This record gives sequence, C-alpha cells and structure tokens, in this order.
Amino acid sequence: MSITQLNKEQKNSGLANFLADDQLTKTQITDLINLAINIKNHPADYSQALAGKSVAMIFEKPSLRTHVSFDMGISKLGGHALYLGQQNGKLGERERVSDYAKNLSCYADLIVARVFENSAIEGLAEHASVPVINALCDVYHPCQALADFVTLHECFVVGKGIDLIQVKLAYVGDGNNVSNSLMLMAAILGVDFTLVSPDGHAPENALLNKAKAFTEKSGSKLVLTSNIDELGQQDVIYTDTWVSMGDEDASKKAALIEKFAPYQVNHQLMKNSQASLVMHCQPAHLGEEITTELFDDKAMSVVFQQAENRMWAQNAVLVTLLTE
Ligand code: NVA
Repeated sequence: MSITQLNKEQKNSGLANFLADDQLTKTQITDLINLAINIKNHPADYSQALAGKSVAMIFEKPSLRTHVSFDMGISKLGGHALYLGQQNGKLGERERVSDYAKNLSCYADLIVARVFENSAIEGLAEHASVPVINALCDVYHPCQALADFVTLHECFVVGKGIDLIQVKLAYVGDGNNVSNSLMLMAAILGVDFTLVSPDGHAPENALLNKAKAFTEKSGSKLVLTSNIDELGQQDVIYTDTWVSMGDEDASKKAALIEKFAPYQVNHQLMKNSQASLVMHCQPAHLGEEITTELFDDKAMSVVFQQAENRMWAQNAVLVTLLTE
C-alpha cells in the first residue's frame, strides 16, 4: 500500500497540531494508535511518506528517546530532520517565540519542540504556519502517552483479546507531565485510571477537572489518592522520575526521596495490586521510583517496547499531520 492509498480512518482528519492530549478526540487517538501499529507492521509502505519534507526539532531540554526516535523515525519515512539544540538558549530569550516560529516556518514543513514551558509550545503553534508537535513541556508529554497506549493496545488488545476499556491502569509517583498526559488520554479513551501521589504532588485542579469531564463522556473511572494502600487491584502500574527536568534542586533531594519512598514501584507493590505489567517512560532512576529488579524483569516490564513505540506513534502523528 502506498501513502496515497491510506484509507480515511488511517488519515485521521482534523488534526492541525499535536500539542496536548486534551485537544484530541477519542477517534483521533484511536486512529493514531491504529496507524502507528500499521506503520510498525508495514514500514516499507510508508518509506516515502515524508519524501521532500523537512522537520525542525527544537530541544530546550536533554533527550535520548525523543531525539533519536524522531530523527530515525523521520528518516524511515523518507523525510529530513534537523536538530536544534540548546545553543540557541531558552525560547523567547534570544529572539521572540513568535519570530522563532515564523523563521522556522520559512524552511521547515513541521516543528517538533521540547520546551520548558507550555506557553512556548502554544506560542510556536500560534505563530508557525506549519504544524507543531509537543515533544514534552512542563504540563504534557503527549507523544509518550500515545506510545504508551500503542503499547497497551499491543499487550491487551492484540496479545490477549481484551479491550482497552477493560484495562485498569495506575500511575504511582509524582504528578507530572507524563502522568497528566496519561490521565487525560485514559479518560478520553475510557480506560480506568488511578493516580497515587504524595500530598502536594497531585495534578493541577484544572487538569483534573478536564480529565473528570472526559470520564463523564467516556464512562471510565478516575481515582486520585495519596494513600498507597488504596491502590487497589490493577492490571498495569506506571511510574516516572520523582523529579522532572527543570525541577532539580539538590538541596531538596534527600527530603524528597524520603517523602516518595513509600511510593516506590517494586515487586511487592505489583503483587499487592495483582498487576502484571510495569511501565516507565525513562530515564529511570533505578532504586528510587522503581527497583532495578522490576525494571529488568522481562516478564513484567515493557519499558523498551514503550521506547520503541515512541517512534511508531510519532511517525503516525507525522504522517497524519503532513499527508492530509
Ligand atoms: N517527567 C520527566 C519525563 C522525562 C521523559 C521529565 O519531564 O523530566
């Protein structure tokens, strides 16, 4: 099948940017998951999907998976990726975000940006004349959440014939960009979601309210607690670093580790909750939010499947945004 033969569902209409999970519909997410799996299974069919297209990739923060998966993924689609690292400083300081967006739009067909502040993503999207993909900001990490639901689809729908709406997903740890995106996407898709975080580390009320509104439409449950004993029965436990990029403060590290210690994801927690899979977006701080033994447990840990699926999920977004 060539790119021109993609059917309507695979083309996923109506997507202008990929900025925040709460801007997506259930149909758009489901179409992206299906397209990601199709690209993964038939990469040769998409090898020219981005022929002649160039993507500018702005990184204000460090990256391994996001940088490499976008670069290699774009190459697999026949496109060209340009990495713009931190030599240009924080967006908006050397030149205005609006000018950055307008200049890049002169050369690039799409902008990928990893930024400190969500306002920079919004500014880029507002002023660019080309689509913008959020490759992580302080509030969202939608590329990660999409890859995670591709992974869950593979594990449960393909692997066990179980619909995603029957899967119970829990996130244990710091309420952050990764958990925000996961919570919102779960709520839109109708997946039951439990978030366990220490006091003071729950998601912002505005995001919670958005997620609750989505669950009212999708019919899924959203449980929030700071009591790890209320985790309940789960199928999947997800965790992420206790301190995100940009929030590091060495003087607070010891107190933070003590506060988060009861929330460590380990084999005992998996047993107590009866969960069969553990997920982590990486980089993992082994011995902190997750034990090395669990991270390396091939029977339970799908962390490298998640990492690989970053590329297929992002390629689905790129194909959708650039071939409509
Ligand atoms: N919450 C982490 C995710 C890294 C992929 C961070 O923002 O640093």
